[in-house]
Amino acid sequence: MLYKLLRPLAFALDAETAHRATVTALSLSPTLPLPRFAPELEMEIAGLRFPSPVGLAAGFDKDARCPDAMLGLGFGFVEVGTLTPLPQEGNPRPRLFRLKEDRAVINRMGFNNGGQEDALERLGRRERRGIVGVNIGANKESADRVADYAVGVRRMSAVADYLTVNISSPNTPGLRSLQAGGELDELLSAVRDARPAGGPPVFLKVAPDLESGDHDRIVRAAIDGKIDALIVANTTVSRPSLRSDHAQETGGLSGRPLKQLALEQLRQFRSASGGSIPLVAVGGIEDADDAWDRIAAGASLVQLYSALVYEGPGLAKRIAAGIAGKLRQRGFAALSEAVGSSSTTPSRRGS
Ligand SMILES: Cc1cc2nc3c(=O)[nH]c(=O)nc-3n(C[C@H](O)[C@H](O)[C@H](O)COP(=O)(O)O)c2cc1C
Repeated sequence: MLYKLLRPLAFALDAETAHRATVTALSLSPTLPLPRFAPELEMEIAGLRFPSPVGLAAGFDKDARCPDAMLGLGFGFVEVGTLTPLPQEGNPRPRLFRLKEDRAVINRMGFNNGGQEDALERLGRRERRGIVGVNIGANKESADRVADYAVGVRRMSAVADYLTVNISSPNTPGLRSLQAGGELDELLSAVRDARPAGGPPVFLKVAPDLESGDHDRIVRAAIDGKIDALIVANTTVSRPSLRSDHAQETGGLSGRPLKQLALEQLRQFRSASGGSIPLVAVGGIEDADDAWDRIAAGASLVQLYSALVYEGPGLAKRIAAGIAGKLRQRGFAALSEAVGSSSTTPSRRGS
């Protein structure tokens, strides 16, 4: 309700200015107690217990300034980052665009962040509560990108409930080539060697712009590399038909126009993995129907970012409540029973 009133104000500002103001306000706000969720929403993967399957995707809180505020607002887990070993400015502004008519966002931020050391200190000061994942990447100018990921794993393990190896941002030139065969094996073996004993699980975040054959190969590499879950997917460089003036901006597209592609990619990963590695779905999730479609297609958890811009912070709680309602309606005693329940047949929306 409050967000409906504030949204015109936020939309009057340039998108990045509005975003920065939001993160600052959240970082200064008093920490709310963690919400209680319906017990059947609990999901255990990679040795972690998620109280709700609805998480905040990476990129909203790149510098880990407000994870506790976001947990307090109703996210079952929060992923901060992408954090690179060294601080970097990212691309020149403007680099973030709202596509209002399409309920979408295009960004070419380019991993702007204050670096891992800063975030490490900030995360180290907080009281550990809720699940906070740390998404790591490579610096644009790095001479050895694989080494950057190893540094990130070693450095951030102490403060992360899980780590995400992000090789899927379209805004760092050449980064996504780390998804290719030989490079991926080399990267995942360096990541495996860098993991401290007793350290957090490691997730791998992939792009939605993959070709047939890529899914089998990535699943195999992830399992061989002891990756604990796949996050499907990052923003797309493709441009389905869009109405907004900003449609042709360079960068990654997210929000509603990514929905079908992200769901299709999730299905491909489910079929390639047969459930042998947990999947986290992200891309265009706006409501409980979308979240349910992903769970039924094989996702154990979901994440969102762009829909927050349009719907406001109450969205995570609304989606969680909607999923709990669907579980009850369909007679599932626990969320885990619903995962992959329609992986061969389409789900029944709204029923
Ligand atoms: C402004 C913006 C910045 C993002 N930055 C990152 C990032 O730093 N690291 C990352 O892994 N994903 C990043 N993402 C991608 C999101 O985490 C998510 O995968 C994508 O936006 C699809 O989800 P959505 O449609 O719910 O937004 C960013 C997305 C947006 C819109």
